[in-house]
Amino acid sequence: DASDIEKGTYPHYMLKEIDEQPAVMRNIITAYQGDSGKIELDQDIREAVKNADRLYIIACGTSFHAGLVGKQLLEGIAKVPTEVHIASEFSYNMPLLSEKPLFIFISQSGETADSRSVLVQVKKLGYPTITLTNVQGSTLSREADHTLLLHAGPEIAVASTKAYTAQIAVLTLLAVDVATTKDLHHDFDVIHELSLVAQAMEVLVDQKELMEHLAHNYFETVRNAFYIGRGIDYYVCMEAALKLKEISYIQAEGFAGGELKHGTIALIEEGTPVIAIATQSHVNGSIRSNLKEVAARGANTCIISMESTAEDDDQIILPEVHEYLTPLVAAVPVQLLAYYAALQRDCDVDKPRNLAKSVTVE
Ligand code: AGP
Repeated sequence: DASDIEKGTYPHYMLKEIDEQPAVMRNIITAYQGDSGKIELDQDIREAVKNADRLYIIACGTSFHAGLVGKQLLEGIAKVPTEVHIASEFSYNMPLLSEKPLFIFISQSGETADSRSVLVQVKKLGYPTITLTNVQGSTLSREADHTLLLHAGPEIAVASTKAYTAQIAVLTLLAVDVATTKDLHHDFDVIHELSLVAQAMEVLVDQKELMEHLAHNYFETVRNAFYIGRGIDYYVCMEAALKLKEISYIQAEGFAGGELKHGTIALIEEGTPVIAIATQSHVNGSIRSNLKEVAARGANTCIISMESTAEDDDQIILPEVHEYLTPLVAAVPVQLLAYYAALQRDCDVDKPRNLAKSVTVE
């Protein structure tokens, strides 16, 4: 049938979509490159961000996790205060807003009901809105003032992969563009940095055998698993855990490394998988000592590090990229680990139980 043709030689859409990520990074660069060769965002979007005193990112699931990374970029590079909210929570529990808020909705499908409900609410209050989506003409795109497209191509697998990295890449462009128009000093050559990310992703998608082997070592028979990280890595851990639970049905949690000792460490037993994401040099020592604490209690530990933070026995070493962009490369192995864990457990990778690709009910 038609879907077989689209999948080409791939056994699953998810694997195809993971592999497409380097190309998506390059598409995004091309799509947003102006005649000058530099990144040029829509003037209205620039103005909207410039006029705002605070950004409110609203999203669900994987898109929410991309928003958390986006906050780091928007605050770090563009110096704009940014909050990130789960749409279904914001709807019923709206925080005190700043004087000039700008709402950014992140939604792969552009059809998520929880996010739309917030959009309707804030439009009634008269606030400006932008939608970051993969689907031109989708409900959230039509109803917001402005749209930023992800240019990731159709994402079919229920588990979002290339849309997540595309969301982070477009948020990076937004952050850098805002920093430039605000005349903030920065040396972030975004086209160069995203090209390096694309190359690094190419290396990582070729490490399927390693990921299959590690998935077997860590996840084959377990009931639960933990990803731990600090700072931006913690946000990637939340996404890594969501990937694992939604397709392999392993109960997984993404956890802030320093918070383990405040309760969760009680769950560590002989063989419990704990995977640390350690891409940030300023927390490299502390996340490694968190991992040692759980190893001493029997955990089956694994480290994902960068070339610059790596130690000899690390299981997964990511090619070097800008420290703000490590989520883009760390995403690839955790997606592949989830994929192989699901395969090894005979799960329906592309259509996990109880889930729909876009959630159009509140
Ligand atoms: C991701 O793997 C999930 N299937 C899910 O969390 C998804 O990201 C969420 O439902 C939001 O969807 P959207 O981006 O289309 O709004």
